Amino acid sequence: MVDEMTYRVGMTLENTAESTADKTADNTPEIIVEDTELATESLVAAQTATAGSEWWRTAVIYQIYPRSFADDDGNGIGDLAGITKRLPSLAELGIDAIWLSPFFRSPQRDAGYDVSDYCDVDPLFGNLADFDLLLETAHGLGLKVIADMVPNHTSADHEWFQAALAAPEGSPERDRYMFREGKGPNGDLPPNNWESVFGGSMWERTTNADGTPGQWFLHIFDKSQPDLNWENPWVREQFYDILRFWLDRGVDGFRVDVAHGMIKADGLPDYTPPADGASMGGAQVSAEVTPLEPIIQDSPPDPPYWGQEGVHEIWRGWHNVLAEYPGDRVLCAEAWVDPLEKVALWVRPDEMSQAFNFAYMFTDWKAPALKRVITESIKAFAEVGAPATWVLSNHDVVRHASRLSLPKDAPPQGAGIGPKTPGKPDPVLGLRRARAATSLMLALPGSAYLYQGEELGLPEDMELPDSARQDPTWFRTNGEKYGRDGCRVPIPWESDRPAFGFNDTGESWLPQPDEWVQYARDSQVGVPGSTLELYRAALQLRRDHGLGSGALTWVKGYDKKVVAFRNGDVTVLANLGKIAVELPVGEVLLASDDVTSGALPRDTTVWLRS
Ligand code: NOJ
Repeated sequence: MVDEMTYRVGMTLENTAESTADKTADNTPEIIVEDTELATESLVAAQTATAGSEWWRTAVIYQIYPRSFADDDGNGIGDLAGITKRLPSLAELGIDAIWLSPFFRSPQRDAGYDVSDYCDVDPLFGNLADFDLLLETAHGLGLKVIADMVPNHTSADHEWFQAALAAPEGSPERDRYMFREGKGPNGDLPPNNWESVFGGSMWERTTNADGTPGQWFLHIFDKSQPDLNWENPWVREQFYDILRFWLDRGVDGFRVDVAHGMIKADGLPDYTPPADGASMGGAQVSAEVTPLEPIIQDSPPDPPYWGQEGVHEIWRGWHNVLAEYPGDRVLCAEAWVDPLEKVALWVRPDEMSQAFNFAYMFTDWKAPALKRVITESIKAFAEVGAPATWVLSNHDVVRHASRLSLPKDAPPQGAGIGPKTPGKPDPVLGLRRARAATSLMLALPGSAYLYQGEELGLPEDMELPDSARQDPTWFRTNGEKYGRDGCRVPIPWESDRPAFGFNDTGESWLPQPDEWVQYARDSQVGVPGSTLELYRAALQLRRDHGLGSGALTWVKGYDKKVVAFRNGDVTVLANLGKIAVELPVGEVLLASDDVTSGALPRDTTVWLRS
């Protein structure tokens, strides 16, 4: 353990439990770096070591959901040409890379996560030339481009699946997917009891050419998304070629969909998930944890379709394909497993580069829980030499400007919220917390993900009419779960244009709420205190102070509702309590809300030069 370090920024500690103990002889209070596991030499060193030379170790990666970003042809669905035209505004924001959700050829039954041709652009979004222009423009602006690869399943429209349906049982074509005989005397019961993430059975029965019922096929998600058989070497080879197709065009890496789901346990044994389990697997982080309790509540054994040991061999193969290319290419795992030590298995040196930190995303707005998950994250990823990652919103979860003020009994992640959800989020408190949460996140070492629209402070759209909904979750649960449409509404650019500048025609595949006029980007540019300017300032300071490649040490001496840490020459204080705490003297670099009174109000984060 290193010696406990102390340093002074002239703070007062009247609101803290430790105020007496921490006063020094001359009565000037101190900030004391906690002697936690993070302050051990090995972990400080490990954090620093993870800030290696690859760009993605410290990158802020902005997720573009192509359907909803910018629509050049005006048909109401965003497209690649629209994205290209708006790239300069992302460069100005100060991000390092964009991740594009799928734009491949697809019947769009799961908004593009149902791919029917991995080596072409869907005409909805443009064509390969549009993609090449996007890539060239992004690179010209200094932005890396990450594509979204969806290998666990194809679309049912994919020629491989159509060939499998046409081929006889036991054929090589069928072996590319997960076909099985049904149970029961006539085979009319599904092969096991697995339930789809989107609701209903994970199995769908086929019909033979002569009209008789045939085999069943597995689909973890919608029945339009049959699972591939990744035990089959032919499948592996196809994807090596697909990766090379996009790497040859110049992409900087891949976000990998359902990277924990591709291998299923031998014999496909029955499995019943816990009632409150996260649908895609994932961490159950409780707001109520105390520092003495484990951050991740005891999780049940892995479902037989998530996190099987065999997936790691696949990622080693992908790692090797990326290594054939010059420069630093990234593989980012969407792996909903817990605890974090397990997530870290996906980012061992010979596998992927980063994994989303869903445990962090779903940690409630409570200081002890946040401190705990941050510590656990840094430790878990540093142990395998990978950067910690941080994320608060994406296209699958309720936007954090709403989620952070939802009542306790709100539905779990992925279930969505809508008109009948008990208790509405408080928009003012939600935005205030979202700004504080993002300000905290962007000061953490490692890599961070932003989801389009969060820089505008967009809330979840809870008032979508049922007739507009498109998420398969809504249909497969017969409207019991709203699903994810509320976080996917096209974003507002200019307050006085049709569809708020999403396009010129006013068309929008999901209707935009009228009140979103207040979030339009043009009404925030250059406006002090706007959410857009807060993001821009945070990203600039993060870069200037090298926070992405820094090392975090906790600072003690504050109320337990304050998250206080130091990263490089920046001290970060986030007050998650209801009562204002006194601000130490020091230069304020960034504040998520007004701190001119000398106090740090509730739900506010401040960065101080220390
Ligand atoms: C995870 C993606 O993020 C989600 O949007 C999609 O529905 C599922 N994987 C299935 O591909």
